[in-house]
Amino acid sequence: MIVSVKRYDTFQSYELDVSRDITVLELLHKIKEMDPSLSYRHMCRAGICGTCALKVNGKNVLACKTRLNKFEDETIVLEPLDNAVVIKDLVVEHQRWFDMYKNIKVDFKNSDYQYFDFKSIENSKNCIACFICNSVCPVMPIDKKFGGPFVFARIYGFLEDSRNANKDYGKLIDGAINHCTHCKNCNYACPLFVMPETLIKKLEDVLISKGLIQAPQNDLFFGF
Ligand code: SF4
Ligand code: SF4
Ligand code: FES
Repeated sequence: MIVSVKRYDTFQSYELDVSRDITVLELLHKIKEMDPSLSYRHMCRAGICGTCALKVNGKNVLACKTRLNKFEDETIVLEPLDNAVVIKDLVVEHQRWFDMYKNIKVDFKNSDYQYFDFKSIENSKNCIACFICNSVCPVMPIDKKFGGPFVFARIYGFLEDSRNANKDYGKLIDGAINHCTHCKNCNYACPLFVMPETLIKKLEDVLISKGLIQAPQNDLFFGF
């Protein structure tokens, strides 16, 4: 099998004799044995930490949860996530996205209302910070104010938590939530089915009902 790995601004090829039943992460470990200079991230190996996200033959996946037999192409092409600053090889910078979250995030204040409807925020809480959604968002590279699908998917779990008295929906406007085009790329790409666009839409509906943003005009609205 030929594996082509993006390294800085070029591709490096490796030839390996491996089964297609192994995961992309196991493939990377095998390449690392041949070439210790290759860099990639991983931690849990179980689809929990989100650190191993990358592109395989153009598809965004978690390396530890994806087997090579999912790809029919003869050559396997490995690339870092898009929309991200590459630190080295397949390792991208996460700090910028965590900082955006820190700037916009909503603090938790205990309310007297202690009924906890976990189902209503379950999607948000399933997010593992893999940043695949940010990597497929067409707005993020051109709009520095836009918080992005990761940030809003996370914030949803705080604002809509029935036990949280802090309902500072204004934070969403600081993150330009209404700049989302509702292309749904993030919904299709998220490996945990968090459905960030759906959560963004629900948050925007709250903002509209509070008169904090205007309802989209049909002739100007890009969503579908
Ligand atoms: S919303 Fe989905 S794609 Fe985005 S960071 Fe969370 S788990 Fe990853
Ligand atoms: S739906 Fe919105 S947040 Fe999701 S990828 Fe499209 S523009 Fe980005
Ligand atoms: S190594 Fe943790 S999600 Fe893949």
